Amino acid sequence: MAEKTDVSEAQIASHWKEEDYYPPSAKFIAQANMTDEGIYERFALENVPDCFKEYADLLDWYKYWDEILDTSDAPCYKWFKGGLINASYNCVDRHLAKNRNKTAIHFVPELEEEKVDHVTYQELWVRVNEFAALLQDFCGLKAGDRVTLHMPMSAELPITMLALCRLGVIHSQVFGGFSGKSCADRIVDSGSEVLITMDAYYRGGKLLDHKIKADEACEEAAKQGQTVKKVLVWQRYAGKHSAETPMVEGRDFAVNELLKNYYGKRVEPVKMPAEAPLFLMYTSGTTGKPKGCQHGTGGYLAYVTGTSKYVQDIHPEDVYWCMADIGWITGHSYIVYGPLALGASSVIYEGIPNYPDAGRCWRIAQDLGVNIFHTAPTAIRALRKIGPDEPAKYDYEFKHMTTVGEPIEPEVWKWYYNVVGKGKAAIVDTWWQTETGGFLCSTLPGLRAMKPGSAGPGMPGIHPIVLDDEGKEVPDGQGKAGNICIQNPWPGMFQTIWGDRDRFVRQYFERYCKDPNSKDWRDWPYLTGDAAIIAEDGYVRILGRIDDVINVSGHRLGTKELESAALVVEEIAEAAVVPVKHDIKGVEPDMYVALKPGYEASDAIADKVQKALVEEIGPIAKARKVWIVPDMPKTRSGKIMRRILAAISNGTDVGDTMTLANPEVVEAIKKMA
Ligand code: WTA
Repeated sequence: MAEKTDVSEAQIASHWKEEDYYPPSAKFIAQANMTDEGIYERFALENVPDCFKEYADLLDWYKYWDEILDTSDAPCYKWFKGGLINASYNCVDRHLAKNRNKTAIHFVPELEEEKVDHVTYQELWVRVNEFAALLQDFCGLKAGDRVTLHMPMSAELPITMLALCRLGVIHSQVFGGFSGKSCADRIVDSGSEVLITMDAYYRGGKLLDHKIKADEACEEAAKQGQTVKKVLVWQRYAGKHSAETPMVEGRDFAVNELLKNYYGKRVEPVKMPAEAPLFLMYTSGTTGKPKGCQHGTGGYLAYVTGTSKYVQDIHPEDVYWCMADIGWITGHSYIVYGPLALGASSVIYEGIPNYPDAGRCWRIAQDLGVNIFHTAPTAIRALRKIGPDEPAKYDYEFKHMTTVGEPIEPEVWKWYYNVVGKGKAAIVDTWWQTETGGFLCSTLPGLRAMKPGSAGPGMPGIHPIVLDDEGKEVPDGQGKAGNICIQNPWPGMFQTIWGDRDRFVRQYFERYCKDPNSKDWRDWPYLTGDAAIIAEDGYVRILGRIDDVINVSGHRLGTKELESAALVVEEIAEAAVVPVKHDIKGVEPDMYVALKPGYEASDAIADKVQKALVEEIGPIAKARKVWIVPDMPKTRSGKIMRRILAAISNGTDVGDTMTLANPEVVEAIKKMA
């Protein structure tokens, strides 16, 4: 879909109006973890890397590190060299003295008649120890081995992760909604001999057979030359097998059965070098096979703990709910490792946000006393679409909310702020990536005002810079976009792509590297692949992936900008823009919109969208056609599949739609063409 042109990214036009600031409330500031303006100075560029000692000191070390940053293999960095640490110890054991009886995990089953499982830190410790004993003894796993997980949202998922890292085993969790085939590719790439899964889980009110995917994964992995020797299957209901797919004799083992042999067993956490890999998280690029982003132990844990404290504002007494799936990086960093390292109570919800009705999320918030809420624009748009007035019906109070994953349109931001947050919660718009481990840009909520649609300044110790194609800096406040890069290393950044250092260097550093032999980090700016504009106040506005730019008559328009304009129209719930080939202009935008409930498609609405595009951006942005569709084709993680819409607009083959959450929508839209 990307339109490759010879126009420089720096020429991407910005037509976005600057939004007004929203200051955080006095009540929020009074309790915030970080209100010291001096943090920005302490983490200034000239204080990198030493400033990150402050984050490392939030952790317990077996042996304190002696070198903060080893750049001898730049850009593969080693943080906190010489240190010995264990992530499981930091997320579990160290809380026992003070908070043994406090809930670590609230597991909320999708069926409302099933009770919430409140796992205390003491119980988490017991279960992590027993499972670690099983992994060590029954599977013979040891530090440095890789194990693939293909688990749904459950309390057993963090228990599994924490048991593995207790032994120094590298986990690689594959999003539960992915196919057996995707899981197989990741098993093969990581060289896993053990797969850990669950028999079944609830989604949309149905108990899905998940075990079948393990069979598919093992079969496909074997074809690719990797034998899975053991499959450990957690039971959704302990004591019974809940999938139709049977267990394979000699290969599959029910964890809940095996565990009986390990009751009461304890396993000392293995003292791991700070730079030992903690986990792999696969992410797909635009081309080629998925990349296993390798995250290290000490650096990663320090970074997610520091950012959970100062950006998420997590205190031990908070009830924190991040609605992401643990199969994504957001779940790893900001459901499991960051919150648990701080001793918080973290909510894990099994199902979909609108089961059994549009009020479910707000009921969960009310009943568990959630006061920190974290989700993505796609979910916010969906919640706004299905139940714009639901939040007001429930008695909860958020002090803090997060948005992550894609740029949020100011209209949607304002609904989130006014309706979900009831005008009381501080919002952070956190921009980052699987590769970066933790936040890159965000406001510190007790120190900086919010600005709708804008992620805010670089995090303390993260120094963004926008470069044009020639590597020249695009100055702040010019309304010009370019390639946003990070000038310095930080502890949360991935260490390499698993087994492919060349690809790591090529894809993320080569473009602006000043000297490929340099051991000085200053020569290795990190290329994020996003297009961004930095405003005069230093706030960063992300336009989307550099590849998602539409070029109309040599004007490069960010798709997000066009979509934001459409969302200004009252009736519109969701918008997606795709390029359509045009003889003269090169391409023209086609605009797809879905309406909020209660509205009927009409020419008048389509006209309003056109008018908004012209008014907000200019005549250049006028769409060839406005399609009012019943719903957007979406992936299981909720990202809109613009590729499919583009195929429909251009009359080309839509390709495989079976991996979508809603393939039927594609047929309906095709009929409109
Ligand atoms: C996009 C998710 C705008 C961006 C943590 C990035 C965002 C990609 C934001 C990484 C945000 C993420 N505002 N865009 N707050 N957060 N993105 O690896 O294009 O799933 O490069 O990591 O999502 O997606 P990933």
